Amino acid sequence: MEQLVEREIICKTANETKNLAREVAKFLPANSSIALIGGLGAGKTTFVRGLAEGFGMDANVSSPSFNILNIYSGVVTLLHLDAYRLDGSPQATDGLMLEDFLIPPYCLVAEWPELLHGFLDRCGLKIFFTVGSDFSRRIIIRPAKCWN
Ligand SMILES: Nc1ncnc2c1ncn2[C@@H]1O[C@H](COP(=O)(O)OP(=O)(O)OP(=O)(O)O)[C@@H](O)[C@H]1O
Ligand SMILES: [Mg+2]
Repeated sequence: MEQLVEREIICKTANETKNLAREVAKFLPANSSIALIGGLGAGKTTFVRGLAEGFGMDANVSSPSFNILNIYSGVVTLLHLDAYRLDGSPQATDGLMLEDFLIPPYCLVAEWPELLHGFLDRCGLKIFFTVGSDFSRRIIIRPAKCWN
């Protein structure tokens, strides 16, 4: 990968998905927000593991479904958010007080971003995951138009 432009990749294994995320991590500007869009078990948390590796973190990234937000410190602050348990209301999103945790340089990455009020409109990068009939993952990387 030479730059982050829209592309579609087939990842046959979880390791391939992680490797893709490690590549993506290299091209993220400081203070990026990423939406991971895809169904249950599609590979979103796996992708976050790869991001953490890409940032050189020795983080044991797990699904934050019960915590909603996990924070890992390193060259950037990696904020891993799982909105699965939110109801999509502005109040639920405000209640997270996310701004308080966004200490630059950060990378905010959200699973189930559809349930985070306003997030999809302002994130810099959307990544779509679909599971193929052979269990491979089709991953579409889509930077926002104003992405730098
Ligand atoms: N190509 C692949 N990419 C990612 N994960 C894969 C792939 N092939 C198999 N897997 C497996 O699928 C599962 C994906 O789980 P993961 O927790 O990453 O999904 P998720 O999208 O975060 O799910 P959830 O919505 O429940 O949080 C893992 O067990 C992983 O090992
Ligand atoms: Mg997950």
